[in-house]
Amino acid sequence: MAHRVTLIPGDGIGPDIARATVRILEATGADLEWDRQEAGMAGLETRNSPLPDETLASIADNRVALKGPLTTPVGKGFRSINVALRKHFDLYANVRPARTIIPKSRYEDIDLVLIRENTEGLYSGVEHYVGIGDDPRAAAESVMIVTRFGVERIVRYAFEYALDNGRRKVTLAHKANILKCTQGLFLDIGREIAAEYEGRVEFEDRIVDATAMMLVMDPYRFDVIVTENMFGDILSDQIAGLVGGLGMAPGANIGKETAIFEAVHGSAPDIAGRNIANPTGLLLSGVLMIEHLGYAEEARRVRTALEETIRSEDSLTPDLGGSGTTDGFTEAVLRRL
Ligand code: NAI
Ligand code: MG
Repeated sequence: MAHRVTLIPGDGIGPDIARATVRILEATGADLEWDRQEAGMAGLETRNSPLPDETLASIADNRVALKGPLTTPVGKGFRSINVALRKHFDLYANVRPARTIIPKSRYEDIDLVLIRENTEGLYSGVEHYVGIGDDPRAAAESVMIVTRFGVERIVRYAFEYALDNGRRKVTLAHKANILKCTQGLFLDIGREIAAEYEGRVEFEDRIVDATAMMLVMDPYRFDVIVTENMFGDILSDQIAGLVGGLGMAPGANIGKETAIFEAVHGSAPDIAGRNIANPTGLLLSGVLMIEHLGYAEEARRVRTALEETIRSEDSLTPDLGGSGTTDGFTEAVLRRL
């Protein structure tokens, strides 16, 4: 029976990289049926909502979605649809692997996984302006929410991930020295959970700013990193930079029932509509998705074809130093597949 998957091409470069990804995944022979839906600006234009009910219903039915980037207006307008989706389906674990494919880049042989808490922290959406006198926006507050339930499940997820994937160490990145309550709780509960895995997976904790520095100086000391929502957002772009940039970085948003796969990067309005976006981030997200659906061999074949294409510098897109196009690069991967 075909696996029905919700496909949200998204905004900006989304439709280009989604088309590339669908072509390559289909060429593996994996039995996928795409249930195409809109969200973000595309949803607003076609269905008058950035998150149409049809899209939510489709994801709820299929339980698996592949999503392109969605544009979020800055500082005003609707709330991030990405955040809304993660909260709606309780996709509490954001898994973002970074592995070197590009030869001769700044670092060789990077192999890290960042696991970000995806539903709480400063991105809980509890924020407001404070008016003083006749200035309605004299101040603003965003609340960082940390719960025992939330920390236990994300830290346990990180350890279980490490065990399942043959990883040796989990680093918990925090800011408990300054944010005594929220980050103190994150750290304390993290240590409790880590104790359950003693002798099986190594554990350390580090302050997040020092972690950022060490990721640049000596990324090899890290293996799996687990951290709260905003820190994870920032550190995951940083680790994408260790392996060639945002164009290379895939991600999975995992909940108990549902999983949404998406690249780390956004809609890249600066290069949208020019057919030069690198589809690798979304393609590797699609690879994580077909692995999740049980297509291990098909996933391995896509990875190999992609790696061979990149290593032979065939049709690379401009972010990788080439002069190729999204379609040209896609053809090059398809030839090797
Ligand atoms: P961005 O990730 O879209 O772009 C940052 C830089 O990386 C740009 O120079 C862009 O050209 C480049 N880049 C990103 N993806 C690329 C790719 N596949 N190939 C080649 N170059 C690539 O971040 P930015 O500009 O901060 O955000 C743009 C919009 O995307 C915003 O509305 C933001 O809210 C949204 N966004 C959505 C995300 C999602 O849907 N999960 C994640 C991050 C941002
Ligand atoms: Mg981000």
